[in-house]
Amino acid sequence: MTRPRVICSRKWPASVEAALRARFDVVLNQADVALSAAELKDALDNFDAVCPTVTDTIDAEVLAAPGRARILGQFGVGFNNIDLEAAKAAGLVVTNTPGVLTDATADIALTLLLNVARRIHEGQTMLRAGEWTGWRPTQLMGTSPQGKTLGIIGMGRIGKAMAKRCFHALDMEIVFHDAYPITDPGVPAKQLATIEEVLQVADFVSLHCTGGGDNIHLIDAARLARMKPTAYLINSARGDLIDEAALVAALEAGAIAGAGLDVYEREPALSAALTGMANVCLLPHLGSATIETREAMGMTVVENLSAFFEGREPPNRVA
Ligand code: DGY
Repeated sequence: MTRPRVICSRKWPASVEAALRARFDVVLNQADVALSAAELKDALDNFDAVCPTVTDTIDAEVLAAPGRARILGQFGVGFNNIDLEAAKAAGLVVTNTPGVLTDATADIALTLLLNVARRIHEGQTMLRAGEWTGWRPTQLMGTSPQGKTLGIIGMGRIGKAMAKRCFHALDMEIVFHDAYPITDPGVPAKQLATIEEVLQVADFVSLHCTGGGDNIHLIDAARLARMKPTAYLINSARGDLIDEAALVAALEAGAIAGAGLDVYEREPALSAALTGMANVCLLPHLGSATIETREAMGMTVVENLSAFFEGREPPNRVA
């Protein structure tokens, strides 16, 4: 029996690549260089399954008349890089990898919160530059998270995991906004009717909603202006949630105290001004980057593809 032809757009963890090889006729990307739009189109023409990541733009043009492909097995929980309507119109099934990266991503959000609060990155920069002259009572004083208010935008799995960490480990008060009523936030937390209400009361605002569509520039100049001047903005979700130019302007004006960012509007590019700001902690989209999590993400793709090609419903179908 001929095995389904599968192509991965990037290099995956070795254990997952072995699992793919055992089940499919697979083409891997050992060079780990992103595929061009033409190469993605070619992949859709010649493979039964194409497995993209967040960095592959699978838009209507790429999806026009796919020859052979029947399924897109996204390696990631977010799928704003894929035009779902165009994929559906082209008759493609789309799957993602939810659940397995909840803790890793919440850990990175917490890391960013503590980093900006305690000025960790500033301290490390000073040390590495050989500029530390010894302990001083007023050196690099940060702000204590204990008793402060965390405002979560998007109370899904990752938002709840962030709330749990901040409530139990940091004794923070939790408020949140979600488009849907959340009856079980997991810890004592108050749901507020609007994003604006969250922004007005929070000392730390952490974004945990999906990117793309109506959420593009969810945090714009007007909403940044609602935040307290002492508040910090944390984004470990998607870069397009924030109008990055407006964020730079708010930071330059001192309208907010700082930001912790793992994702950017035009990755891998980021606004040059951000790199020069001491009150901004910058990470290169590390949310799910643990070996355990990346293996689990990959094995989730394998499960989705296996189910699809065995005629079962893929467990994580989004279209
Ligand atoms: C995700 O899974 O959405 C991560 O951000 C990587 O794409």
